[in-house]
Amino acid sequence: MRYSPLLLGLAGCMSAMDMTTDSAADSGGDSGADTAELAPLEACGYTAMPDLDPADGAVEVNLTASALAWDPGTGVPLEGGMAFNGSVPGPVLEATLGDRVTVHFTNDTAMEMSLHWHGLRVTPEVDGIQQMMGDPIEPGESFDYTFTLQDAGFYWFHTHMDTATTIEAGLYAPIVVHAPGEVKPDCDLPVVLDDVLLDEDTLQIAPPDTSMMQLMGRLGTVLMMNGRNDRRVAWTKGQTTLLRLVNASNARYWDVYLEGHQLTVVGTDGGFLAEPYPVDDLVIAPGERYMVAVEATGEPGQSYRLMNKRVQLHEEGGDMIEVDPLGNGENPVATFVYGEGEVTGTGWTPPTPDVPAWGAPVANVGHHWLLAEDMMGGTVSIDGASWPDVPMVDVAQNVDTTFEVENSSEMHHPFHIHGNRFQMVEVGGVAVPASQGWKDTFDVPPRTTVKLVSALDNPGEWMYHCHILEHADKGMAGLMTVE
Ligand code: C2O
Ligand code: CU
Ligand code: CU
Repeated sequence: MRYSPLLLGLAGCMSAMDMTTDSAADSGGDSGADTAELAPLEACGYTAMPDLDPADGAVEVNLTASALAWDPGTGVPLEGGMAFNGSVPGPVLEATLGDRVTVHFTNDTAMEMSLHWHGLRVTPEVDGIQQMMGDPIEPGESFDYTFTLQDAGFYWFHTHMDTATTIEAGLYAPIVVHAPGEVKPDCDLPVVLDDVLLDEDTLQIAPPDTSMMQLMGRLGTVLMMNGRNDRRVAWTKGQTTLLRLVNASNARYWDVYLEGHQLTVVGTDGGFLAEPYPVDDLVIAPGERYMVAVEATGEPGQSYRLMNKRVQLHEEGGDMIEVDPLGNGENPVATFVYGEGEVTGTGWTPPTPDVPAWGAPVANVGHHWLLAEDMMGGTVSIDGASWPDVPMVDVAQNVDTTFEVENSSEMHHPFHIHGNRFQMVEVGGVAVPASQGWKDTFDVPPRTTVKLVSALDNPGEWMYHCHILEHADKGMAGLMTVE
């Protein structure tokens, strides 16, 4: 019988209320001792990198990328794995708005690297593309990244060379930027969503994709929260949890919900929202972030699973290598376990930021991007070309500008722009209902045009690209000069 790695995650779910759990575990037919083993119960929270600079207003951390055979929850460590500071995801880079951050980075791997601070308005010199364009951090070398934080909220950093390989291997980590004086929720939990494609016999990271798979993007076979598929997080009735969700997958669009609990979206890519809104489930494109508040309304002893519903990425044949352990298109990813007792929660509410909302496109159009895909030719393109041949986009700094992103293909593309932030005002001719706040990564559905507005305030040469990493690596990327 073929061992199914996903069953480890399923075996960890003991909710008496949950009928699907038992039937799913049974249908796998593997009742070996190791599958009955529950992952240890973890406290709800996170580990931040130690700040080596005691001064207020300055954060200084050491960061090393190295090879690490980490276990995604299958019991088989991944030989091709890599990690920041020995963990997947890497420890949280935690700081406060306005802080000067210094990251002493050492590349202890065998690959050339650069790091990118996804969503932060840094300066071009430390954005990670300079190294990508000719001066990489070689194996054994170090580089200091220094930037000042202009944005509170939830971001992430990751490698920016050979991303389809190095991010798949585990080189990503959350960034939490607090606003000064921000009230903290009872529990603050970064939830890094990722999938990894394993060879079904060896349970090792499968070799790089063939050209066809590369065009579809690499969908993994093991779905993970914070680097494992079997995490169990301790919860207490009455507490308020802030889930900081980021999709670190190469290509998978996630659609998550938490059994038995209401999710309230309180923030997106660029910080908290002026008007939080409830959702039953949440679609998250690769590279995107959402901050979600959850009230722990369950009872002591109960367990609830974080689930992913299947999202079809491509209108034709996109589910070729989709995983579906429960047979209903859904995957359990982690379990929240209620301990004894109850707390009187803080009744935390998110800070209300002052986000100006344009609400509609402005007359000045800065650029109209065209995303295309040639299934037969096996290519993806922007504005008719592939990196590095995509024509430069030039836009004026500090002028209200509309950007249009047209997707002529039959596949979703998560479009990401470095160094600046935007508001999404229109999708397929329909106004975006409530302000989604500041964003840097946008799902552009098939045969649809998305409109963004911003007055770009961060000058420099900035990369933009599809955040399906196989597409980015295949050249679905370009540069924009803001001056
Ligand atoms: Cu998250 Cu240019 O990337
Ligand atoms: Cu980015
Ligand atoms: Cu794409």
